[in-house]
Amino acid sequence: MKFQAPKGTRDFYPEDMAVRNWIMDAWRRTSLRNGFQEYDGPIFELLDLYRAKSGEGIVSELFHFEDRGGRELAIRPEMTPTLARMVGARANSLSRPIKWFSMPRLCRAERPQRGRLREFFQWNIDVLGVDDVIADAECVFVAIDFFREVGLTPADMVMKINSRSLLSALLVARGFDVDRHAEIFAVLDKRDKLPEDVFAESVQKTTRSVDEYDTLMSIARAAGHTGLDELAGIAAGNEAAEREMARLRELFRLLGEMGVGEYCAFDMGVVRGLAYYTGIVFEGFGKGELQRAICGGGRYDQLLEVLGGPPMTGVGFGTSDVVIEVVLRELGKLPTVLAEPPQVDVYLIDAAPEFFPIVLRLAGRLRQRGVRAEFSYKRQGIGKQFKAAAAARAAKAVIVGQEFADRQVVAVKDLATGQQVEMGVEAFVEECGKAQT
Ligand code: HAM
Repeated sequence: MKFQAPKGTRDFYPEDMAVRNWIMDAWRRTSLRNGFQEYDGPIFELLDLYRAKSGEGIVSELFHFEDRGGRELAIRPEMTPTLARMVGARANSLSRPIKWFSMPRLCRAERPQRGRLREFFQWNIDVLGVDDVIADAECVFVAIDFFREVGLTPADMVMKINSRSLLSALLVARGFDVDRHAEIFAVLDKRDKLPEDVFAESVQKTTRSVDEYDTLMSIARAAGHTGLDELAGIAAGNEAAEREMARLRELFRLLGEMGVGEYCAFDMGVVRGLAYYTGIVFEGFGKGELQRAICGGGRYDQLLEVLGGPPMTGVGFGTSDVVIEVVLRELGKLPTVLAEPPQVDVYLIDAAPEFFPIVLRLAGRLRQRGVRAEFSYKRQGIGKQFKAAAAARAAKAVIVGQEFADRQVVAVKDLATGQQVEMGVEAFVEECGKAQT
């Protein structure tokens, strides 16, 4: 029987690993230069951590199982609940702002398609313990800082930004009861995912009068430069709506100050599927063929408390290696990242098989000092071993032969210049070791 990798998973051969590392190295670099600290958690959690807190979408996509004690567990489909649990447990001792990042392997049992798999790596950036909109601005900035580093310009992508609290306030201002909001959010979230007539039909189904229909349609269409102004009329006179409107305007002002305003656009059609978002929400989209979000996040003000922690607010986003690779390939911006074997500092060559035990001993001593030392597995002529040294891109070749037996010296050849010198073996080991420190 021939086995294949399970549906929606990937094998990472060295050339694939090189691409994955290139993306993840950029995640780490971006996180660190923006002042975020790395954390991680377990790959599975109690299923209850996700139930009801994340929303039906993600819960129906979980891989879950029971352990022998009958506990219901789930492989993590996202990181935010784990983060909320961890921060909640140490809330008192962590200094604010809590700026953390993570790059977990996640699994979701969704239908595999372009840009969506069942197993992927997701970069998470979160700021906790700060209510100020500066934290929201910083998260959006960090996402764009990464996309900019890998070569995406405002012509290639857009960060669509909205506010669930503004949307709620507008709905309240127009007389929609709070218990209808979740349903309306779900409908508005589909604006760009459905053909226009199908979307209009679902708005009609959720509304009870022509007036309600017109209001929702005009809210849903508000986007771009004039979007916020278009909503000002509905917000006027409603304190909460005006406050949320001002918060969103402040966010755009801050992003402008930070030099990424061109990437950002207001859009009421971004509501996000996860249940825990309470405030600003945002999603990045490639402007090419990939119609799926390339990143997504938002503010979650109650998640920690819901999970049994203290009241604490948070904001953050996630993006995955899968979508980034698809988008960069589509735009021809994925560099050729080569999977090269590691470069070698010293290639040890035996002049005759009886010197091989000394080669092994020297390799052991050099490696212990952090020197990348290699040797041939096969006992073969010096010429072939030199060829192997060149193939391994070794900086130096060291020949162990009769001189070693006679006088404890080795021949050291610089493979770039071709220069060869004799050296006492102890001096050589010491010099190589020093070069590593
Ligand atoms: P999410 O929208 O479920 O949010 O996922 C965020 C991003 O992860 C998506 O925009 C997409 O780039 C990537 N992604 C999601 N599912 C898949 C998949 N099946 N295959 C490949 N990539 C995928 C969250 O997960 C939130 N927990 C993010 C967050 C962090 N919010 C606050 N902090």
